[in-house]
Amino acid sequence: MISSPDAAKIVLVTKAHLFKPTYPPSKEKMIGPEAIFFHQGPYHSRLKKLVQASFLPSAIRGSVSEIEQIVLKFLPAWENTTLNTLQEMKRYAFDVAMISAFGHKQDKEINGIKQLYQCLEKGYNSMPLDLPGTPFNKAMKARKLLNETLRRLIKERRENEKQGGGGGLLGVLLGDKNQKVDQLSDSQIADNVIGVIFAAHDTTASVLTWLLKYLHDNGNLLEAVTREQEGVRREIIEANRRLMWDDTRHMPLTTRVIQETLRTASILSFTFREAVEDVEFEGYYIPKGWKVLPLFRTIHHCADFFPKPEKFDPSRFEVPPKPNTFMPFGNGVHSCPGSELAKLEMLVLLHHLTTKYRWQVVGDEDGIQYGPFPVPKKGLPVKVTPRNI
Ligand code: HEM
Repeated sequence: MISSPDAAKIVLVTKAHLFKPTYPPSKEKMIGPEAIFFHQGPYHSRLKKLVQASFLPSAIRGSVSEIEQIVLKFLPAWENTTLNTLQEMKRYAFDVAMISAFGHKQDKEINGIKQLYQCLEKGYNSMPLDLPGTPFNKAMKARKLLNETLRRLIKERRENEKQGGGGGLLGVLLGDKNQKVDQLSDSQIADNVIGVIFAAHDTTASVLTWLLKYLHDNGNLLEAVTREQEGVRREIIEANRRLMWDDTRHMPLTTRVIQETLRTASILSFTFREAVEDVEFEGYYIPKGWKVLPLFRTIHHCADFFPKPEKFDPSRFEVPPKPNTFMPFGNGVHSCPGSELAKLEMLVLLHHLTTKYRWQVVGDEDGIQYGPFPVPKKGLPVKVTPRNI
């Protein structure tokens, strides 16, 4: 277990080739063995470039209005009801992930894909017992059907190629031909589309849930963020919605609140690597095949780098953190290609929620549950009411 920033850098960046990512075989089967997470070397770099290309700020800025439409669809439905924050944030992040994966085009297969994905998700964290009727077995069946549906969609899109591969990550993966000889296969494309939806939605939803919790518990901060959001030059937002996120210089406090949420919650507490050969490491001997775990949470909660680490204090980000001490999106070749999209989702939601609504936590249950990411108990039940201005 690695809890020093320099050692984490060696494992994740400088000597990344000696430490491959590893996941339990059941997870690999369920997501799809050809998904980006499970690979190293040239296949990984090729995929990484493609995934990164679809989530660069320049690529996702075109989705801001659509993300905003999703938020504006959810908010009125939340009004004056008690909701399970985590569940609602999952619905939000899932809708955004679907647009990112498939683009704006409403293919006829999309609804089927949504339903099958939800079956898959239910069994994802269950015991990997592949016996009739177990959640794992049901999820594996859904995974098979998902594959078939995705293949039909891929076929349709390939046939309509002249009109472009369609949008989203799927369009980018279909468009990557490398002179036709080296086209990505249908299963490589399907595994990566499913993989990205998987990576994008629970993570973002868990962080969003913490964001609401911390702002609820820190009333002064909520008011300050609201003032900042009201002040985000409205005429610019109206004229050009993109700037709402492009120009984060105008929202330093909101940005710091997001950073502090990522640090405090550290929902990806650590990651798994495995030594691909015997490695000598700072006087330690790591035999081939042994797991190595860089502990993000431990580094994020170390008082040497973040004084009073348990305190939620966005002002600590007024100065940039020391190198390799803040890694909510990982580091090195396998670092998160979706970080900008995740931040954009948080900003868009925060803007509309803080300026128009208030929320009150229902019940007094403080505590954490793991699903498997740490989230507030019972998914943070809240009552949302219109804000009195
Ligand atoms: C707040 C939300 C998110 C957090 C905290 C997060 C965190 C991370 C971390 C720590 C890693 C590195 C894992 C490792 O080194 O083993 C990672 C990888 C990854 N993330 Fe995210 N992520 C988030 C949202 C997203 C979104 C929105 C997307 C989709 C666009 C995404 C796609 C991926 C992919 C594809 C990888 C694997 C990259 C590779 O293996 O090269 N993530 N994420």
